[in-house]
Amino acid sequence: MKLILTNDGSHTLYVPELKEHYHSVFGAMQESRHIFLNAGLYKAIESKRKLNVLEAGFGTGLNALLTCLAAEKEKARVNYTAVELHPLPPAIYHKLNYAALVKEQGSLQMFLKLHSSDWGDEIRISDHFTLKKLKTDIREIDFPDKRFDLIYFDAFAPEVQPELWTADVFKRYALCSNKNCVLVTYSCKGEVKRNLKSAGFVVEKLPGPPGKREILRAVYQTLT
Ligand SMILES: C[S@@+](CC[C@H](N)C(=O)[O-])C[C@H]1O[C@@H](n2cnc3c(N)ncnc32)[C@H](O)[C@@H]1O
Repeated sequence: MKLILTNDGSHTLYVPELKEHYHSVFGAMQESRHIFLNAGLYKAIESKRKLNVLEAGFGTGLNALLTCLAAEKEKARVNYTAVELHPLPPAIYHKLNYAALVKEQGSLQMFLKLHSSDWGDEIRISDHFTLKKLKTDIREIDFPDKRFDLIYFDAFAPEVQPELWTADVFKRYALCSNKNCVLVTYSCKGEVKRNLKSAGFVVEKLPGPPGKREILRAVYQTLT
């Protein structure tokens, strides 16, 4: 795993075995804000001030940190569940510069708490944000009800891990989605769109961040 500086000054990680970065090299933080915050979180809080959020691929914790800070700013209550099979060791997450870049008081403690909190337990990170990390395969999520209002689907690219982007996987996400649950992801691949549609999501393309023409936002309607 290699630490890389992206064009907006924020870090990402490079995984040599997959030849894949965790984020866009045009700007990790810019990408996260554009796709997951602006197209996802801010869309979802238009209609609901208390959200259950699911992230597929916790990784560096960047999406979680930005969401936690936004929840505090907006005074919107967020219960965040994150799925990850390969948690980063402290020696890596301590090097990431996200907390320094956001320049919000308390963000480093918040970031370290996101990473060091126990797996499987719901932990209060701040006044408006709780986190539950699950060491589970993205393909094997299994929740007993339709609890989620917002899903950040942030797996490695379908070109690299096609098995994580199938219709069967998206059906699992549909099964735990409320009606009108918003799912955001960076891949606009035709197959991803078709697989989301077949799982009951209505899909729209939105302009992407620098370096990426389009992204996807999907809204769950019904699984037929
Ligand atoms: C694109 S990176 C995630 C970026 C992350 N959201 C962030 O902000 O850093 C994809 C993540 O999915 C994880 N992952 C890969 N395969 C997985 C699987 N089958 N189940 C769960 N997590 C997986 C990787 O370890 C990596 O952390």
